[in-house]
Amino acid sequence: MSTVPAELLQILSRHQQTRLLSSLQLLSPADQAYLVTQLADVDFDLLRSTWQSARQDSTPTETADRAEQAEAPSRVVRQPASDADQRAWAAARAIGQQALSSGTVAVITVAGGQGTRLGFEHPKGMFPIGPVSQRTLFQIFAEQILARRRRHQADLPWCIMTSDATHEETIAFFRQQNFFGLSPDSIHFFQQGSLPAMDAATGQLLLAAPGQLALSPDGHGGLVTALAKAGLLTLLQAKGVQHLYYHQVDNPTAIVADPALLGFHIQQQSQATTCVVCKTSPTERMGVLVDLQGRTEIIEYSELTAEQAARRNDSGQWIFWAGNTAIHVFDRQFLESLCETGNQLPLHIARKQVPCVDEYGQPLPADPSGQPNAIKLERFIFDALPLAARTLIVEGNREREFNPVKNKSGSDSAETCRTALSRIAREWLQAAGHPVGPHEVFELSPLQALDAEQLSENLQRGVFSPEQLLRG
Ligand code: UD1
Repeated sequence: MSTVPAELLQILSRHQQTRLLSSLQLLSPADQAYLVTQLADVDFDLLRSTWQSARQDSTPTETADRAEQAEAPSRVVRQPASDADQRAWAAARAIGQQALSSGTVAVITVAGGQGTRLGFEHPKGMFPIGPVSQRTLFQIFAEQILARRRRHQADLPWCIMTSDATHEETIAFFRQQNFFGLSPDSIHFFQQGSLPAMDAATGQLLLAAPGQLALSPDGHGGLVTALAKAGLLTLLQAKGVQHLYYHQVDNPTAIVADPALLGFHIQQQSQATTCVVCKTSPTERMGVLVDLQGRTEIIEYSELTAEQAARRNDSGQWIFWAGNTAIHVFDRQFLESLCETGNQLPLHIARKQVPCVDEYGQPLPADPSGQPNAIKLERFIFDALPLAARTLIVEGNREREFNPVKNKSGSDSAETCRTALSRIAREWLQAAGHPVGPHEVFELSPLQALDAEQLSENLQRGVFSPEQLLRG
């Protein structure tokens, strides 16, 4: 065990984790060194306290209390309903456009997930979603960014967070697609970290192979550390970027770098802004924005019982109506301050089945009772909200901007998402005065139009003709 620093050895002994070293001598020197590096990165104190609370907390009272104390968010910029609202939205849009033109905005796409739930064993961003062309999620975002750069004559840097599982394949895909016409140096791929899985019964770290910890991505909350580690917070600062538009790779109808959302965020000097939509039912799998002891927080859908999720206030409205679209705007300095204070976002616990081996590489049998063997840990980016001095909630237009692809069938599936993309194209064509049948399938590239007004303008100016549009 000569390769193990004494300090690390002490930590492992204190936490009864020396078992991990018992086959060290069987490993090559390179593998030994790798295991030691992995172990040196682990915060054993934090893992132990998290495991202990997971054990005690089979019915998490703290979580239940949060839901009991939560109220519907008191301050939300709702969708425009009056002329005065329309003017307020137009004013916000103008502020956002100004920020885009002056180069103070960057886009962050979190793309650490794979399309496993869709039966697609690749990075989810490579999933084909265009209703006619099968263009991928990544292509739709790339084209939105290119179109916005052109419209606002802006740099609009694009930061894409990948994970261990998606990094190489994502970069290879962008290369193969010639970066979709974007200049490669304007796209910044950066990799999120990972966290070790623990044996649910003993808290021991699990091995994926001899000398290799069983690791899983640290959640989209890993973003803050990953941005800093990749030097991107510094780079964005040097470029004069102040506002970070954040979205998930699974929703192609997110309005990337939405001027109105950015505008409200800037106007209200928010540090963390979230776009919400009304949930369609209490059981819809969306986190919800709430007020909790004067702070804005998100309670994840998995943390609410069915009874809680359906609760109404005195005026009969759902308390938990404000669904998290996972579209946010963050102030760059706010994220920097989280790094500087070393303020790590809390860990969330998931009980999962994790394949693992003993120190000699023998697969460990699954629990005969079918109980998941492991505890996996994740951080959620939205846990940054209560740490912000000023937050803002803005209601988005659900039909227009929230059509994610998550499930193989049913709601939020590729089918519902393609239907939505085609419906939006039809609505824009109709608004531009072109008759369309109710079931005709259309597909617009963001390069043809970013919104209904631009489509109308481009058709009028003869930039392209309706016959040139993609039809199913
Ligand atoms: C998520 C939100 C939920 C919200 C919903 C909106 C969480 C915990 N919940 O639910 O509040 O209402 O989206 O669609 O996020 N990702 C990474 N790295 C990770 C984990 C996830 O990049 O380590 C990315 C994935 O690529 C994906 C996104 O984050 O794009 C969402 O992750 P997912 O686990 O699918 O969240 P949902 O359950 O859909």
